[in-house]
Amino acid sequence: MAKFLITGALPYINGVKHLGNLAGSLLPADIHARFRRQTGHEVLFLCGTDEHGTPAELAAHAAGLPVADYCAQQHTLQADIYRRFGLSFDHFSRTSGAANRALTQDIFRRLDAAGWIDERTIRQAYSPTDARFLPDRYVVGTCPHCHNPGARGDQCESCTRVLDPRDLIAPRSAISGAADIEFRDTRHLFLRLSAFEGRLRSWVESRSDWPVLVRSIALKWLDEGLRDRCITRDLSWGVPVPKSGFEGKVFYVWFDAPIGYIAAAVEWAEAATGRDWRSWWEGGDGVRFIQFLGKDNVPFHTVSFPATLLGSGLPLKLPDTIKGFNWLTFEGGKFSTSERRGIFTDAAIAALPADYWRWWLAANAPESADTDFTVDRFVAGVNKDLADTFGNLVNRCLTFAATRFDSTVPSGGTSSLVSRDLGRELTTHVQQLRQHHEALNFRKAADEVRAIWRLGNAYLAEAAPWSVIKDDPAQAAAIVRLGINFVRAAALVAWPFIPTAAEEVLECLGEDSSRVPWPEHGAQALTAIPPGRRVRVPSLLFRKIAPTDVVATA
Ligand code: MF3
Ligand code: ZN
Repeated sequence: MAKFLITGALPYINGVKHLGNLAGSLLPADIHARFRRQTGHEVLFLCGTDEHGTPAELAAHAAGLPVADYCAQQHTLQADIYRRFGLSFDHFSRTSGAANRALTQDIFRRLDAAGWIDERTIRQAYSPTDARFLPDRYVVGTCPHCHNPGARGDQCESCTRVLDPRDLIAPRSAISGAADIEFRDTRHLFLRLSAFEGRLRSWVESRSDWPVLVRSIALKWLDEGLRDRCITRDLSWGVPVPKSGFEGKVFYVWFDAPIGYIAAAVEWAEAATGRDWRSWWEGGDGVRFIQFLGKDNVPFHTVSFPATLLGSGLPLKLPDTIKGFNWLTFEGGKFSTSERRGIFTDAAIAALPADYWRWWLAANAPESADTDFTVDRFVAGVNKDLADTFGNLVNRCLTFAATRFDSTVPSGGTSSLVSRDLGRELTTHVQQLRQHHEALNFRKAADEVRAIWRLGNAYLAEAAPWSVIKDDPAQAAAIVRLGINFVRAAALVAWPFIPTAAEEVLECLGEDSSRVPWPEHGAQALTAIPPGRRVRVPSLLFRKIAPTDVVATA
């Protein structure tokens, strides 16, 4: 038994997230956390909202709220949505909390004392109308290369060239539209990332087991050469910089956000006695630390956050594995929060129970390439897998037990007359499934679960207890007993993906759904429920859905 520290990228606070955010970090992290708990490991699964930075300030401004109130409201909203999606966080934190402020300031002081922080003067856009400095991307103007009139100060989306806001023709504030842009000198602090290049490279290169996507993005960054990074901002919303001469400045959101993973453990430990956050973060090889995130987050998790941890000199763990995801696209285009394009998690959970979304998004996880969500593919996929395969298996078996065996697991007979060795086949599938989970291959794991459901249906079709019962009631009893036990195993392997339905099935079988075991040994699993046990038919587990169940939300 090992300990698993599992994190999902902290969702940004500026509004309800879309299905792509769920599919590319939080859902796979939850499935993995459930799998590890189910196989007997101790798990600490942490997440929270990422609350600092200009986008949070602007969203609060648009909502007409003080930024602290806006963040508190959005945090509650997002936390509630994730609870309804069945995400089993041990703690869901906030980066604007006291724990993160204290840790961020402490880590900064250590970096500074160790000589990893440089002071530099930079020229930054300033708008007298807005009475504030403007981050590069909040200065817009005409691109000097392609003359796109809407280029951002950090990059032109149209010709993709990297820009400096001073390159823009006719620059203006993206916040107010004011054209009175000046460039003023301002003092800032830089993390000397370049000094960590060697250590980071040997760390990444030693991780030959990392997914190709993550390794290749990390090495690309290292190959391009690391540039020292400005970690402070002229903003009021954020963690204050505890250094004289920097009063009124805060840390850059990407400096404090990942420290929020540690703060989440600190808060989790404070919430009850007997919990020790250090036994996780300072747990050395006794803890496996796995992070789940979208590909745009890879550089921060493989370069800047590890450099922060290494430079602090604290004995904190670096991730053992990082599982990165490609994009989920929507009907051939991008999901877009700003354009409200796609399906958002609040609308999704209002339209259909979590398990429908969880199943499809995991079975079609954007692992080796981007995946396109289309309403038609979603409807076809869940109807086939959940209604026709899993739902059908459960219903067929339990309805027959109800009508012909008085809702009781029958005794007598032996099922050896049926050709297949169901126990051995189940064992093989379950071993495969475990390997796919351990390798963080979510699509393959879902394929294996589906294969187990199909095996159950194939067995019942072959054994045909509804025919056998006419001539040989004892054999029919044995088949139904085996079938009921198979339904239990089918629910157990489904649990990390579709926990609500799986628990409902287990309850119908008289099992304790709060402790879901892993059916490692097929033959044993298929005799777990003894004869004489009362069982129930679940109310409709999965109904067949139509595009109209979904399109209203898109
Ligand atoms: N909020 C970021 C995003 O949505 C992820 C932050 S992850 C953490 O892309 F490392 F900062 F915590
Ligand atoms: Zn351009």
